[in-house]
Amino acid sequence: MTFSASAAPAPAMPPLAELHLHIEGTLEPELIFALAERNGIELPYADLDELRARYEFSDLQSFLDLYYANMSVLQTEADFADMTRAYLRRAAAAGVRHAEIMMDPQAHVDRGVPLATAVNGVASALAASEAEFGISTGLIAAFLRDLSEESALIVLEELLAMDAPIIGIGLDSAEVGNPPSKFIRLYDRAREAGLRLIAHAGEEGPASYVTDALDLLKVERIDHGIRCMEDTALVARLAEEQVPLTVCPLSNVRLGAVDTLADHPLPAMLDAGLNVCVNSDDPAYFGGHVDDNFAGLKAVFGFGTDVLETLAGNSIRSSFITAERRDVLLAELDAWVRAQG
Ligand code: ADE
Ligand code: ZN
Repeated sequence: MTFSASAAPAPAMPPLAELHLHIEGTLEPELIFALAERNGIELPYADLDELRARYEFSDLQSFLDLYYANMSVLQTEADFADMTRAYLRRAAAAGVRHAEIMMDPQAHVDRGVPLATAVNGVASALAASEAEFGISTGLIAAFLRDLSEESALIVLEELLAMDAPIIGIGLDSAEVGNPPSKFIRLYDRAREAGLRLIAHAGEEGPASYVTDALDLLKVERIDHGIRCMEDTALVARLAEEQVPLTVCPLSNVRLGAVDTLADHPLPAMLDAGLNVCVNSDDPAYFGGHVDDNFAGLKAVFGFGTDVLETLAGNSIRSSFITAERRDVLLAELDAWVRAQG
């Protein structure tokens, strides 16, 4: 009688693309303290516990206040590169095979860090990502919607002049009161420069911001978009046009956009035929990476292999990768589904 070694269990996570991720939101408390020490920066928290005690948010702004404050430890190219590598290492373990990563250039320039320091630090880690972690990447410059369009245009022109390795632009930060209509010239300029276009809309802001991001800014993807569910005609349009929505369930719970994970509209969005995928947004702040989001959804909604395949497939098809890379990842996803038995 012969015994063959039993095959390794199929991984719980499907191979996927993470399309909604703020690199500054991956800065873990331990790294904040390590970088503060390296750069001789005094933090307003005595220790890790005191910092972690601040991770209770009532809304988007209460999170943004801490998110921007913690960026003070990012000073050198090495700081930005170390933060980015830490994300990529963790993302690889979560099943991420492609990542389109946002960074907030204005948040660094405005506190005196040169644009090139921030961009080159992140970009240097991304350049090595496929070889080091098996994750292909794209970098997206996100503009802060609570600042002026003029400020965004100045930074975009600087990024273009330095030939920064960005594939697109996004729009983030405080949403309510800062509608897409404020940034029409910015998106016109980015489109003219050949950049891909995405924007946060319908996270805290109304469904009309989703419509305006599509019609006024001509974005190709919507970040969050969950409040589209309040507008039946918009849902029908999003389903018809298969507009990708990069949904972030744990983020929505932690920022109070939904009360609990069980109240999240993701199942209703799937039922409505929307092109949704699951992402972590700011994993260091919201209780986990993309695999933690999937684990929560599986526990609460009992999603099986078919739903996981849909979500992962949507993420890969909604990314800005080449057709060749997309086909490789879709074949990996097929193999994963077959291995689930
Ligand atoms: N910047 C970082 N995370 C964000 C979020 N969830 N919404 C808006 N701006 C952000
Ligand atoms: Zn976001």
